[in-house]
Amino acid sequence: MRILSIETSCDETAISIIDASGNIKKPKFSILADAVASQISIHAQYGGVFPMMAKREHSKNIVPLFKKSLSQAKLLIHFKKSSPLTEKQEKEIRKILDREQELIEPFIELVTTIKKPKVNAIAVTEGPGLEPALWVGINFAKALSHFWKLPVIPTNHMEGHIVSGLIIDGAIENGSQKLNKIEFPAIALLISGGHTQIVLVKDFMQYKIMGETRDDAVGEAFDKVARMMGLPYPGGPEISRLAKEGRVLPSTFTLPRPMLHTPDYDFSFSGLKTAVLYTIQKIKTFDHETKCRIACEFENAVTEVLIKKTAKAVEKYKAKTILLGGGVASNNFIKQKFGELVDSESYKEKKVKLYFPRKDLSTDNAIMIAMAGYFRLYRTKKRASIKNLKAKGNLKVG
Ligand code: KG4
Ligand code: ZN
Repeated sequence: MRILSIETSCDETAISIIDASGNIKKPKFSILADAVASQISIHAQYGGVFPMMAKREHSKNIVPLFKKSLSQAKLLIHFKKSSPLTEKQEKEIRKILDREQELIEPFIELVTTIKKPKVNAIAVTEGPGLEPALWVGINFAKALSHFWKLPVIPTNHMEGHIVSGLIIDGAIENGSQKLNKIEFPAIALLISGGHTQIVLVKDFMQYKIMGETRDDAVGEAFDKVARMMGLPYPGGPEISRLAKEGRVLPSTFTLPRPMLHTPDYDFSFSGLKTAVLYTIQKIKTFDHETKCRIACEFENAVTEVLIKKTAKAVEKYKAKTILLGGGVASNNFIKQKFGELVDSESYKEKKVKLYFPRKDLSTDNAIMIAMAGYFRLYRTKKRASIKNLKAKGNLKVG
């Protein structure tokens, strides 16, 4: 089946089109289109993401992005002459898009000028995320679904991050993506700007959250520490760059490893962030080298805690696979340290596999939403009635 997927939970508007087939144990995915419009440069001016600004940008981007994805998939076919809506159709579209006023005219222009594309279903992120931002994708999906009579698969953003490591970078066989074979149970470590979770994955779409952050998400801590150092948003890549330089300098700072030895699988990064603030306040000359040293110690502290807690979950549940997902999973040092963990003697014996997404699939994207949507449909056979579809800001996996 051909799935059109829509992701607008935070600061990337993303649309993809994939062909999906096969059963849940042996799925096959071919990517026909993958279009992303990033709002990072807009939010960077303000040092973070403001939900209403994100919503406005999604509304502005979503129709052009949709056309771009259709064009990539060679599914964009214009009518010779525009085909106007009936009064009833227009009334219905206006009602569905009532909360997305700025989408109404572009939407009408779209569906009156192009033919219904050959897709079978729409997977859309219903949560978790910023609700005003989620609504744009959801309402757009509802309007498309209503107009072109397509079923909608509501999809969990975190399930997307869990399955994003399935794709093997650059490996295509007979037009299909080669996929990593995940052996269950697996432990997923989801690390993004909004979440830090350890999830026990018993099978695709069968999850249990083992632990999560009690305060800041790990990406949020990276972003806040970067801001303290006068670095732009998003702070993760900036801190990581400085940390790399700091790693060859003698270490002069010590930061705490919060909750390293607690018996649970929870995290806390707010105290670590405050410890960075106190450290900075005590320094007289806050030069580039000092920033590199602090960034390095911060990255070391975060990585140590992430690895220790994940390893504990792997051992407890005799997991066969570790899955990393989320924007912070693009951090090279974190990936390297997880690599060393699974290459260690005891892990080698247990044959624990480590999968992480290729860089553009670590951060928010629609390919992961299409794959998670396919699994969801396969497992539940449920398509949503668009009446019941709504943004679920705090949606959990499980
Ligand atoms: O998954 P994502 O794109 O969006 C959310 O769902 O939150 O993650 C964005 C987060 C930001 O906090 C950003 O600073 C962080 O991922 N990030 C990184 C790196 N690249 C992005 N954190 C650490 N190291 C990186 N290389
Ligand atoms: Zn995300």
